Amino acid sequence: MSQKNFYRRRTLAARLTKLITQVAVGSAAASGVFLTAPRRTGKSTFAREDLRPALEEAGAIVLYADLWKDPTKDPGAVIVETVREAIGCDEKLMSRLAIAPGLEAVSVGRVSFNVNNIGLGKEIGLTKAFEALSDEAKKLIVLIIDETQHAITTDEGVAALFALKAARDELNSSKHYGLRIVCIGSNQNKLAMLRNSSEEAFFGASMVQLPMLDKDFVDWYCKGLDLPHDLYPFDVFQLFQESGYRPEILSAAADGIRFDLTVGPKAILVRFAELVRAQAEALNASLKMVIHSLTPIQSAVICVMGAKGEGFAPFESSTMELYAKAIANAGIATSEPRIEVPDVQLALMALQERKLVWKTSRGVYTIEEQVIVDLLREDGLLDDLV
Ligand SMILES: Nc1ncnc2c1ncn2[C@@H]1O[C@H](COP(=O)(O)OP(=O)(O)OP(=O)(O)O)[C@@H](O)[C@H]1O
Ligand SMILES: [Mg+2]
Repeated sequence: MSQKNFYRRRTLAARLTKLITQVAVGSAAASGVFLTAPRRTGKSTFAREDLRPALEEAGAIVLYADLWKDPTKDPGAVIVETVREAIGCDEKLMSRLAIAPGLEAVSVGRVSFNVNNIGLGKEIGLTKAFEALSDEAKKLIVLIIDETQHAITTDEGVAALFALKAARDELNSSKHYGLRIVCIGSNQNKLAMLRNSSEEAFFGASMVQLPMLDKDFVDWYCKGLDLPHDLYPFDVFQLFQESGYRPEILSAAADGIRFDLTVGPKAILVRFAELVRAQAEALNASLKMVIHSLTPIQSAVICVMGAKGEGFAPFESSTMELYAKAIANAGIATSEPRIEVPDVQLALMALQERKLVWKTSRGVYTIEEQVIVDLLREDGLLDDLV
């Protein structure tokens, strides 16, 4: 897609660039900045199309790691690969690393440094790699990690985050040119796990709510639509808000009109509104179907988890009682009213498989998306469960 197909958010990018690059006295931004917004509302597009160029313009080197780029790869490996790529692009740096102590000297004039020597537990750890990059470029480095929460689902991912913490602390010392880490994710609870406890790699990092795409986006969008009849931005913005600020819902509705040759110009806005609402409902309907196909114990576990929020402890006796209560509330008579720990374990695994529940490598559970909690609450399934 060319840049023309994106609405540019330059003012927002400039504000964030300042926040990330110029750390005020007493600000926690040097520990890292967490950017969060709901699913499909434009976080990655903003990071790639607006924030990255703005940071580069401000004189920083920007590395971008999308931990969901390849779901078959360990998130830790993706972080390491991003650093390898950045170093691999710089021949001077490669030769400098090749003659670093501990490595075999290279033949003069030919770089034989292998980037695979960089990594967790390798000759060149992440701190050393970042130090080399920093000293060579003499610039601030910003590492943007998209879908950061994914890192804490594997041991290698957690190790990479701790290695980055060490690299960040070293580079932010007066000897080098600084390293800022920007973490992006849609679920605040998951991101909070990375920064809340003092053992976590990003303790104290700032959490920033990325604003939603605004009215100006909708104006820009309506101008570029090229439908047989113009849409009124005022009405479209209302629909956009109603459907959770997700541009794809507007685009799917617009396609619905483009490919429907029976809609006359005058009926377009009405049809557009119908299609937007139908899209938003269809998304929820498929999620509802998954929720309604759960077994009583799976349903009880997810409801208690939703009601408890961050304080959810799956195997505590009080929680076990709540599962039984949830089953009773649902009016399901079971011949086996006692719920045992292995039942809960199995239910948690099944919920994970259905992508309703998420688990960190340390065994902490949370509901995959806020919208799931909202749907359970709407159905009254969370009442009396705290
Ligand atoms: N500034 C923009 N201009 C035009 N389209 C946009 C813009 N921002 C987002 N979109 C569109 O909205 C959709 C979702 O964007 P994007 O993937 O950036 O969202 P996200 O918040 O990163 O999603 P996820 O939660 O899945 O990571 C994409 O189809 C994208 O093209
Ligand atoms: Mg994204």
